[in-house]
Amino acid sequence: MKNVMIFDHPLIQHKTTILRQKETSNKEFRELVEEITMLMCYEALRDLPLEDVEIETPIKKTTQKMIKGKDMAVVPILRAGLGMVEGFLSLVPNAKVGHIGMYRDEETMQPQEYYCKLPPDIDKRLVVVVDPMLATGGSAIDAIGQIKSYGATQIKFLCLIAAPEGIEALTKAHPDVEVYCANVDECLNERCYIVPGLGDAGDRIFGTM
Ligand code: PRP
Ligand code: URA
Repeated sequence: MKNVMIFDHPLIQHKTTILRQKETSNKEFRELVEEITMLMCYEALRDLPLEDVEIETPIKKTTQKMIKGKDMAVVPILRAGLGMVEGFLSLVPNAKVGHIGMYRDEETMQPQEYYCKLPPDIDKRLVVVVDPMLATGGSAIDAIGQIKSYGATQIKFLCLIAAPEGIEALTKAHPDVEVYCANVDECLNERCYIVPGLGDAGDRIFGTM
C-alpha cells in the first residue's frame, strides 16, 4: 500500500512478541515500547534532507552533511503515545514535543479530544505523530486532522501494532501521511480491540488496569 511501511526486522518482531505477552510487567512493557520506537525511528527518518556544512576537524577544514531544516516535532497521542517519546528523543534529542489528548468513548468508540498543545512554527517542521495502537484509526485520523489545522504539511505516523481496518481508514483520510507500523495484526474484535494485539496500551504502560 502506498505510504505504508511495515517493519520486518527480527529485533522488532522479537521485542513485540514479548510486549504482547500478558505476563510482561509494566516496567518491561515501557522499556520495550521505548526500544521498538527507537528502532522504528531510525528507519522512518531515512529520508531526512541533508545539507552541506563547513566544519574543521583537528586535521583540516571539510564540507560534511547535517540534517537540514527546523527541528522536528514529535507529537504523542495521549496517553499511550507518551511511552514512545523517549525512544524518539534518544535519536532526535533536539525535537520539540507537542501533545494531543484523545480517548475513545467506550460506548461509541469515537475519539474525544481533550487537549492540544503544539510547538510553534509547526508548519515548518516535520511532525512525527506517535501512538502504539492504530485500531479503528479514529484517534490518529482526528489527531492528524487537528495538527494539519495548525498548518503542518509534513507528517509521519508511527505505531507499534495496527489493525488492517485502521491502516485502511487512516490512509484514506490522510493519503499524504507516511504510516509506519511495527506489526499488522488480524482484525478488530467487537470492542474494537486489536486481535491478537496486546490489550490496552495505555493501561499497560501506566499500570492502570
Ligand atoms: C488507544 C490508543 C489509541 C487509540 C486507538 O487509546 O493509544 O490512541 O486507543 O484506537 P482507535 O484507532 O480505534 O482510535 P485510548 O483511547 O485507549 O486512550 P489512552 O491512551 O488514554 O488509554
Ligand atoms: N487501544 C488499545 O490500547 N488497544 C487496542 O487493542 C485498541 C485500542
